[in-house]
Formats: sequence, C-alpha cells, structure tokens
Amino acid sequence: MPRLLSQPTTVLVTGTSSGVGAALARQLLSAGHRVIAIARRADQAPETPGLIPYACDLADPQATAALMAQIVASHPELTVVINNAGIQLPLRLDDPALDPAGLERELAVNLLAPAIVARAVLPRFSASAEPTAIVNVSSGLAFHPKTITALYCASKAGLHSLTQSLRYQCSGTRIQVSEAILSGIRQGRDEIYIGKARLLPILNRLAPAIPRAMLRRS
Ligand SMILES: NC(=O)c1ccc[n+]([C@@H]2O[C@H](COP(=O)([O-])OP(=O)(O)OC[C@H]3O[C@@H](n4cnc5c(N)ncnc54)[C@H](OP(=O)(O)O)[C@@H]3O)[C@@H](O)[C@H]2O)c1
Repeated sequence: MPRLLSQPTTVLVTGTSSGVGAALARQLLSAGHRVIAIARRADQAPETPGLIPYACDLADPQATAALMAQIVASHPELTVVINNAGIQLPLRLDDPALDPAGLERELAVNLLAPAIVARAVLPRFSASAEPTAIVNVSSGLAFHPKTITALYCASKAGLHSLTQSLRYQCSGTRIQVSEAILSGIRQGRDEIYIGKARLLPILNRLAPAIPRAMLRRS
C-alpha cells in the first residue's frame, strides 16, 4: 500500500465526516492525494483543494450503487478504495422495543455498502495496468463479539469473511485487498491489527477464552 500511495493518486474514503475517516482524509490530502469523500454529511466539509465530497446514505443500497456508477464513470484515475464508514448500535435482540429498521441500517452500512462499493470498482481495477487496492475497515469485535452490540459484531465478522473471499477472487490480479482491524495500512500484510486489537492474534492462539469472557461482560 505505501508503494501505491508513494505518488499522488485518487483515494475514495467512506465515512469522512468524523473520526477515523476524517483523520484519514486529512492525512491523504496533506500528502497530496485527491480524496473522494462519501458520507451523509460529506457536503458539509469546508471546501478543500483535492477534496471531492459526495453526500450519500450508505444504508440505501440503490443510492450507493447509483453513486458508485457515477464516481467510476467520472473518476477513471481512482486507484484506492477505503470502506471505513460504520455504525455501532446498542441492539439487543431480546429487547421488545427493538426497531428492526436499526438492524437493517447497521447491516447495510457495515457490510452491504462495502460489497457494493467494491463491486462497482472491480471492473475498472481489474483492467488497470496500475496496482489498485480495496481496504475494508473492520474491528477486533469481529473475532470476539460483545453482548450489547450483537449485530455490529456480526456485521464486522461478515466484513472479515467478505474481505477474505474478495482477496481470493482478486488473486492473480493487481488488486490488493486488505482488512484494517481497526485501521491501518502496512505493506505486505493482508490483516493489520491496531491498538489493543494487536493482542488478539496472540490471545486467540494461547487463550481464546480470555477475550471472549472480557467482551461477553460488555
Ligand atoms: N473508533 C473505534 O474505536 C473503532 C474500533 C473498531 C472499529 N472501528 C471502525 O472504524 C470505522 C470508523 O469508525 P469511527 O469511530 O471513526 O466512526 P464515527 O466517528 O462514528 O464515523 C463514522 C463515519 O461513517 C459515516 N456514516 C455512518 N453512517 C453512514 C451512512 N448511513 N451513510 C454514509 N456514511 C455513514 C459517518 O458520516 P455521516 O454521519 O455524515 O453519514 C461518519 O463519517 C468504522 O467502520 C468502525 O466500525 C472503529
């Protein structure tokens, strides 16, 4: 990935209006890249050279597919996609007041949207003579779910699985498919564990009951 970003390119980032995505967009812009920014509030960002905002609700699969068709047609120079947007809702399936629409939104933003975004760029990326990349931002909770955010954890586990399958599908192409757990991009690795998530591969091997028990209580 650093090789891909070693010269100015165009990077699509979802979820740029706050948190990790906003920081990522700022860093990419300050490194001289152009950033196609997608979020519901993307158009509220101050005008910045290199920033190309598109307001879109990624919970709406049709709107997402339509926007991606527009972006692929108008930005042939796009080489990197970072599926970062995500929502985490405290949803208990045993809560009688649970609104099923919340379940659908969480799945749509966290799992379906990255698949739609990837699908839209794949034909262009496959045909590209240059290396290209798709990065999905997942979470340590994909591996050890919490009690209170069941669907979030399940959606991130789904994203982990989707990323692996996509990596298999892209083998033999110049498309690099990566998963950032939480977020981070390093050369030569398919999965990058950030912060406390770094302990997960070790704990999973040595004592998987420890993180499972810790997260079950939260
Ligand atoms: N922060 C953490 O500790 C942590 C840990 C593990 C994994 N992660 C993952 O890292 C990613 C970023 O997290 P964060 O903490 O930076 O989240 P955040 O601050 O809540 O930001 C989420 C971003 O996603 C966008 N978004 C949410 N719903 C959307 C929708 N329906 N349509 C379009 N955009 C939408 C939001 O923009 P709008 O509201 O403007 O739409 C916002 O820009 C997520 O995938 C999260 O699961 C974060």
